[in-house]
Amino acid sequence: MSSDTATDPQKLPQHIAIIMDGNGRWAEQHKVSRSKGHENGGKTVQRVIDLCIEKGIPWLTLYAFSTENWGRSKMEVNYLMNMLAKFLEERLPELMQKNVRLHAIGELDMLPSKCRKRLNHCLEATAGNTALNAVLALSYGSRQEITAAARKLAEKVQRGELKPADITPELFGNHLYTANMPDPDLLIRTSGEMRISNYLLWQISYAELWVTDVLWPDFGRAELDAALLDFSSRNRRFGKR
Ligand code: IPE
Ligand code: IPE
Ligand code: MG
Repeated sequence: MSSDTATDPQKLPQHIAIIMDGNGRWAEQHKVSRSKGHENGGKTVQRVIDLCIEKGIPWLTLYAFSTENWGRSKMEVNYLMNMLAKFLEERLPELMQKNVRLHAIGELDMLPSKCRKRLNHCLEATAGNTALNAVLALSYGSRQEITAAARKLAEKVQRGELKPADITPELFGNHLYTANMPDPDLLIRTSGEMRISNYLLWQISYAELWVTDVLWPDFGRAELDAALLDFSSRNRRFGKR
């Protein structure tokens, strides 16, 4: 198969979701602090955004911080939150120039107010952009998301706005953080772990999975091309023959 197949627009995923893992192991390998690993992981984020724009992939969802990541040391959590605030402030002009629309999913109220304010500002400022929808999963946990949707629906039933029989997969999906977003076609995880880690459990029902041993700070064009080439050769049956 030629590598052109990977860029055949007919065979490109419309939505890539990524579990950006391995910053800590990258730091260990390079005998630097975990913070340095996260800093370099941040650079990969911009690289992957640029690659998706170049390839014409309209949706990209990045797992940046999980609900469970709040359980890391205070120092690491603070570093990651400061990095997020800095990213949102420094990268906004570039996101505007590249016509990127930013979205966020997760328990955003849990974020420090500095992050929340900058995030809201970026969400508003980029709302009219159309080249790429970049979704940041922040303080995100899929079980929490599904539980919150169930609660919203239960409240609507309790208020008499909805009958239990009205609850369909479509309606349920519309109560998730990802309402109005297409489901990912391709889920990429770096650093070799064969697990989902509470990410988009509902939305990846029929996503193609691709795992690389490459650590997130080292992820780039070669790895994305390999994932796209593999994706283009998958026979997606969706349960049919
Ligand atoms: C991913 O890298 C970044 C976040 C989860 C925030 P890790 O920090 O999980 O790196 P490893 O898994 O320890 O190598
Ligand atoms: C998943 O990575 C979360 C993010 C990439 C933000 P983790 O490193 O937290 O996941 P586990 O602990 O290996 O499952
Ligand atoms: Mg990890």
